[in-house]
Amino acid sequence: MRGVIRLEALTRSYGGRPAVDGVDLEVAAGELITLVGPSGSGKSTILRLIAGLDRPDSGRILVDDVDVATVPPPRRAVAMVFQDYALFPHLTVLGNLTFGLRVRKVRRAEAEQRARAAAQRLGIDGLLDRYPDQMSGGQRQRVALARALLRDPSVYLLDEPLASLDGPLRFATRTDLLALHRELRTTTIHVTHDQHEAMTLGDRVVVLADGQIRQVGPPQQVYDEPADTFVAGFLGSPPMNLVPGGGVLGGDATLTIGVRPEDLALDDAGPVTATVEAVESLGSEANLSTRCPDGTRLIVRTGPRPGVALGDEVRLRADRLHRFDATTGRRR
Ligand SMILES: Nc1ncnc2c1ncn2[C@@H]1O[C@H](COP(=O)(O)OP(=O)(O)OP(=O)(O)O)[C@@H](O)[C@H]1O
Ligand SMILES: [Mg+2]
Repeated sequence: MRGVIRLEALTRSYGGRPAVDGVDLEVAAGELITLVGPSGSGKSTILRLIAGLDRPDSGRILVDDVDVATVPPPRRAVAMVFQDYALFPHLTVLGNLTFGLRVRKVRRAEAEQRARAAAQRLGIDGLLDRYPDQMSGGQRQRVALARALLRDPSVYLLDEPLASLDGPLRFATRTDLLALHRELRTTTIHVTHDQHEAMTLGDRVVVLADGQIRQVGPPQQVYDEPADTFVAGFLGSPPMNLVPGGGVLGGDATLTIGVRPEDLALDDAGPVTATVEAVESLGSEANLSTRCPDGTRLIVRTGPRPGVALGDEVRLRADRLHRFDATTGRRR
């Protein structure tokens, strides 16, 4: 089946420090996977290894059951969109879009026609005569995406392709990408820092830390049942409250108890007492920073007008607790 990616014990170190450390992952044909993790966790390195721009120290990469170590990068059926766009500065948008097609001997008229169609799809058809330095970061990013679309690969590798877009444009482009994926069904690995992208784009999300995979699963499952305290703290904004020993949430010294801000509620009959230290109003919702008598800080997400003020004493109810091993951080 076209577009199956298998990573086996993939490892790559720089100067003795592993950037990618024993990664095993199978991506199904047609799947859209999001790869998330903190800066420096190895996301771009994994994509560059798959694209053949870098070589693993050990482990294997199979695309469509072929070990790609034997295939030179230009012949790998992957299209990568780089974090920094990597457009040719001396070519116009049209030139950038047609370049790869021309290299593959597509006739000029046809190349230009296909380029215009891809540009139209990404809303940059008005920019075809511009040079990269005459465009905004978001526009350049769309050009890089359009260029990848023109390659018709088995696999798309997208390294933060929406990072330079903001607000409505980011939302619209995310929706476009998703629609495009539904239509083309090309296997895609999408790297992102963005919580919304991580939750909404992928069939599965892969959470990476220090070059190692911490958890793989459907986004809602990873969110609902994080495998360890790292994943619990990484997905979700504001992050899950984690209380060593459990404290006001109950538990014992062998446990760390977690509760997401939205699973804490203001409730006059709630068992936890806390003082409001900060109110952050976000329009559609509010985050309260509260402090319990034992010093524990709990972030509470409420509706838009929580009706509390700084210094108020409130009672809280916790609806859904997560238990982690206090030593290993693993879910229990
Ligand atoms: N060419 C290189 N030479 C030396 N170290 C490198 C090189 N490329 C990456 N690294 C190191 O490998 C680690 C992983 O880098 P990588 O670029 O994969 O992270 P990332 O998850 O993509 O981060 P970001 O979110 O900031 O883009 C980092 O510690 C980085 O400094
Ligand atoms: Mg990166």
